[in-house]
Amino acid sequence: MRKWIGILLVLLMLSACGTAENSSSPTEDQKLTDSDQLYVGFVLDTLKDERWYKDKQLFEEAVESKGARIKTLAANGNDDVQLKQAELLIEEGVDVLVVVPHDAAYSAAIVDMAHEADVKVISYDRLITNAPVDYYISFDNVKVGELQATEILKIKPSGTYAYIGGAESDNNAVLFRQGAMNVLKPHIDKGTIQLAYDQYTDGWDPNKAEENMKAALKQRGNKFDAVIAANDGTAGGVIKALSEQGMAGKVPVSGQDAELEGVRRVVAGTQSMTVYKPISLLASQAADIAVTVAADKPVDAEQSVNNGEADIPAILLEPVAITKDTIRDTIVKDGYLTQEEIYGE
Ligand code: GAL
Repeated sequence: MRKWIGILLVLLMLSACGTAENSSSPTEDQKLTDSDQLYVGFVLDTLKDERWYKDKQLFEEAVESKGARIKTLAANGNDDVQLKQAELLIEEGVDVLVVVPHDAAYSAAIVDMAHEADVKVISYDRLITNAPVDYYISFDNVKVGELQATEILKIKPSGTYAYIGGAESDNNAVLFRQGAMNVLKPHIDKGTIQLAYDQYTDGWDPNKAEENMKAALKQRGNKFDAVIAANDGTAGGVIKALSEQGMAGKVPVSGQDAELEGVRRVVAGTQSMTVYKPISLLASQAADIAVTVAADKPVDAEQSVNNGEADIPAILLEPVAITKDTIRDTIVKDGYLTQEEIYGE
């Protein structure tokens, strides 16, 4: 009985996330209509956070601009659905799979399945661990954490800190935290900083981040001087909890992703910084790799990252710390967000 409910659930999720017609096996004519047109499959964890819409749009445009075909599916944070969606795209005849894994370890099964069908796998933004991934492209995620902690330390060089991390199932969340701890540790060892709360946030859920921050504030009688939040979503939850205690704007909070609401909070002063990651660069370089790999050509990747299975050829791009004074010269100049959107002027 439970098994039938599980299968029913996966089929329901597929019809919800992918499009209804994807639930049955591809018909002959759905298979590559133009056999030499390269076909790229893009498997996203979720479209819940603002940035993933940008990734989807920019990556699809970049792939199509190279004459290749692309289909994107999003799994709404469900591992079984993500596995099923990858399986469907492989059945449909994709030449390469580009994956933003929901769970770094669980998605190793996607690599095994793809390689059985002689389809290469590229880890996009988030690394799949413990599997022979073909290429990995992302930002320097340890540096993201270092930038966050460095900016908060400038404002609050001593005192009681909280760390509100991302989803532990996401390898990036582990790297962001590692970067933040690289910067904080000497201060913790010296005793000028106390890390009084340190918690990952399931599913990167802002509501969970708010709940956790509320519990931490209650536990410590509001005695926090600074919060390192892993992205703008979790920062939003933290700032809601702080504002209920009249502490918003008084306690520095970090963020990431340069989401519109995150940048507006930086302007308003309730959030101290965010980290800008130029998605257009990530998407266009990922499209280069995808189309090259799909054509069975080698990719020149100078770096490599060990994912527990092997040293994976990698391209890691530079993240940029954003504070109130640097918004116009970075995000606005790049057209990532407009002056109008941020300042309403
Ligand atoms: C991370 C990503 C971040 C953030 C987060 C939540 O893997 O690098 O930019 O958005 O996921 O989706």
